[in-house]
Amino acid sequence: MSSSQKTRVVVLISGSGSNLQALIDGVTANELPIEMVAVISNRPGVLGLERAAKANIPTETLDHKAYAHREDFDRALMGKIDSYKPDLIVLAGFMRILTTEFTQHYLGKMLNIHPSLLPKFQGLHTHQRAIEAGETRHGVTVHFVTAELDGGPAIVQASVPVLENDDATSLSKRVQRQEHVIYPLAVKWFAEGDLCMIEGKSMLKGEPLSVSGFQIWSDET
Ligand code: GRF
Repeated sequence: MSSSQKTRVVVLISGSGSNLQALIDGVTANELPIEMVAVISNRPGVLGLERAAKANIPTETLDHKAYAHREDFDRALMGKIDSYKPDLIVLAGFMRILTTEFTQHYLGKMLNIHPSLLPKFQGLHTHQRAIEAGETRHGVTVHFVTAELDGGPAIVQASVPVLENDDATSLSKRVQRQEHVIYPLAVKWFAEGDLCMIEGKSMLKGEPLSVSGFQIWSDET
């Protein structure tokens, strides 16, 4: 496949970018038919920007603190994203609540990864909340982004055991290893034309996925 046919991906980050790294590694290993055309961070100086630069991906920083209103920031961000003419926008630890205008603009072509078995534990501090709720399994979900925060249709979910002596840090590490498996998988499905969103549902190879998405079960302890 020539590079002009590859799915053009813009990745949005706010921090460490370990999920970004998993995508970069997938491209390097020739496992992902994508071209990462830009990485944009809303926070200056984060590790994810370094990871992108090392992989020769163009980087941009758009600091949300320079904007008085969420709408203005989101519009400026849309302008930046669209200048790269992406086919897919990947939110990889992008810690922003998005306006409806923004989510509508990229409906069906924007993915997010959320560290819980959605619809459980939307929002923040998911690992701690899962432990406190006495969950025996916890995990991570990749989903299409809609106007509803952490509420778009699920694509793939990976679950891991919650161990008796887990704290939020140990549990988050176990979950993150699965993040780095399922995000490249979902991006690959999209890039190969196997994944789309139709009438609010995630479709894989022409079939609707279950509400929890494709399931991956890990027994890693
Ligand atoms: C991940 O845990 C992801 O699930 C959440 O934000 C974190 C980002 O981590 N949305 P990283 O920046 O990819 O390392």
